[in-house]
Amino acid sequence: MAKPVLLITRKLPPAIEARAARDYDARLNAADDPWYRDGAEIARRAAECGAAGILCAAGDPMGAATIAALPDSVKAVATFSVGYDHVDVAAAKARGLVVTNTPEVLSFATAECAFTLMLMAARRAGEGERMVRAGRWEGWAPTQLMGVTLEGKALGIAGFGRIGRELAAMARGFRMRIHYRDLHRAPPELEGDATFHDTDEGFLGAIDILSMHMPGGEATRKWLNADRLSRMRKGSIVINTGRGGSVDDAALAEALRSGHIRAAGLDVYDGEPKVFPGYLGLENVALLPHLGSATEETRDAMGHRALENLDAVLRHGTAPPHRVA
Ligand code: DGY
Repeated sequence: MAKPVLLITRKLPPAIEARAARDYDARLNAADDPWYRDGAEIARRAAECGAAGILCAAGDPMGAATIAALPDSVKAVATFSVGYDHVDVAAAKARGLVVTNTPEVLSFATAECAFTLMLMAARRAGEGERMVRAGRWEGWAPTQLMGVTLEGKALGIAGFGRIGRELAAMARGFRMRIHYRDLHRAPPELEGDATFHDTDEGFLGAIDILSMHMPGGEATRKWLNADRLSRMRKGSIVINTGRGGSVDDAALAEALRSGHIRAAGLDVYDGEPKVFPGYLGLENVALLPHLGSATEETRDAMGHRALENLDAVLRHGTAPPHRVA
């Protein structure tokens, strides 16, 4: 029997491309050519090759217009990401398209990235690195680049899902106190010693560091706005490894400029790869290029997970393990 045709929008790790080529008539994007940025082009290519499935990635424009333009041959879209705010799930459901994501396997790596940013922000690592590289370092000084310790600080985790809980486990090792905000209180075995808050006001006023792990989309758009920032303690730190759209960039940049927020660490941006220009001149913000899940181990695991989902739908006719539509 002919192998199902699989359109892959991005260059993927070698083991994943090899597995896809073994099990599918895989149409790779080995050079990572930027056609994936254009939804109409994704649909055109899917029609051209008669794709049964599409393996896309975070940020690919899989909105309603792309989904409407897909040929009928496409039965499943697997995104190489846990977030699926770039896929119009309602449009996919309406046309009976299966959509899957890659949860769990990237939780530790993303929490690690949040922790990296937390340390960078608290200990002014970005500023120090820039100083050394620029040849501006004149030697050790008792008051040079003093940051703050994480030890004993109250970490506020907004979005206490798998990634947020991994971060909590790491933070306990730094003797931090854990607070969290979510729609629902976690069961005792997941909550542990963390303190649940059922209002944003109570949560934001109780913490020294905010780490954002909320899903993207309209419901969380610009959640961290001027009003919520003003409810945070003076000198707090903001970390975002969730989705860039959840932050009002102008408001955060202003809070960083005024010193109300001591420092921030960002891995995600509204309208990536654009970065809000107001951040670029600020020393007290660490900026990473969406590295959350970027470890060799995790990217392989994400690829295998995406292919397991596609295998279920396209090769075995079974229910995919991580279906979101
Ligand atoms: C995701 O999986 O949603 C990330 O943002 C990409 O690693």
